[in-house]
Amino acid sequence: MNVQWYPGHMIKAKRTMQEDIKLIDLVIELVDARIPLSSRNPDIDELGKNKARLILLNKSDLASEKFNAVWEAYFQEKGYYVVKINAKSGAGIKAIHAEVQKACKDKIERDRRRGILNRPVRAMVVGIPNVGKSTFINTFAGKACTKTGNKPGVTKGKQWIRLNKNIELLDTPGILWPKFEDPEVGVRLALIGSVRDEILNRTEMACALISILTEHYMGMLKERYEGVEETEKAEEILLQIAKSRACLAKGGEYDLDKAAALLLDEFRNGKIGRITLEFPEKMEGGR
Ligand code: G4P
Repeated sequence: MNVQWYPGHMIKAKRTMQEDIKLIDLVIELVDARIPLSSRNPDIDELGKNKARLILLNKSDLASEKFNAVWEAYFQEKGYYVVKINAKSGAGIKAIHAEVQKACKDKIERDRRRGILNRPVRAMVVGIPNVGKSTFINTFAGKACTKTGNKPGVTKGKQWIRLNKNIELLDTPGILWPKFEDPEVGVRLALIGSVRDEILNRTEMACALISILTEHYMGMLKERYEGVEETEKAEEILLQIAKSRACLAKGGEYDLDKAAALLLDEFRNGKIGRITLEFPEKMEGGR
């Protein structure tokens, strides 16, 4: 699938992040809970090595509760600290503070041994576009925060948001790009609406979504669209959806493109239900 991206922007963003990351103790990485792997940047582990790491499963309100727990355990097993959140409503945000302390316990302990007390943890938020970084910074920082000015020498040109005595956040998030070259990743990003629709074939995308829905969420599909019957053929289900919602073209025949737009829209708005689109490898095909 053809996804547009700009190498110039990517190189610049990566360079900025390499600089910013030197100033911080903790990387707060946002991923989309519906596609926790596809919404990660392939370079982040290299960029964030030697830093404390916290992964936030954002938009967890749109993903399956059961799989949120599965993904949480998956990342924890790999050594990350993890919190499920909804940056928009604020759900889960409070739990972050305790995890930050745990993730940075070595640094805090080191400071204490050197007689440095109450030096806040410095953190930056990173993630691919549209994952919820700005929403998160606003919610996490809230009204209580005060912006600290530039600190000569150390934080030249950077704005820090002081959340409380324990944590300071760089006010601009690091933006990194997903693994676009992997077509599966491209489709999943398109499904959650992170890639503009015009550059992708809507019917094909709807069929890709239907394949996942029929395999894992058939009950929800039947519930939402009356008359949908199980079949291996995704396009047939799209036709059933067109019938169920009376998506008609001018000549009176069923309009698959209209049905595809409706399905994608309802999925993205969480109307079909809470849906996770990818699963840890060991579960792929095994369920
Ligand atoms: P970015 O900085 O990483 O690019 O992302 P941004 O915060 O702009 O968020 C992208 C979209 O995701 C926004 O929707 C935002 O409201 C939504 N969003 C962020 N976090 C959550 C979450 O936890 N749950 C849900 N359901 N949505 C979330 P938008 O369509 O651009 O704006 P709007 O619909 O909020 O007006």
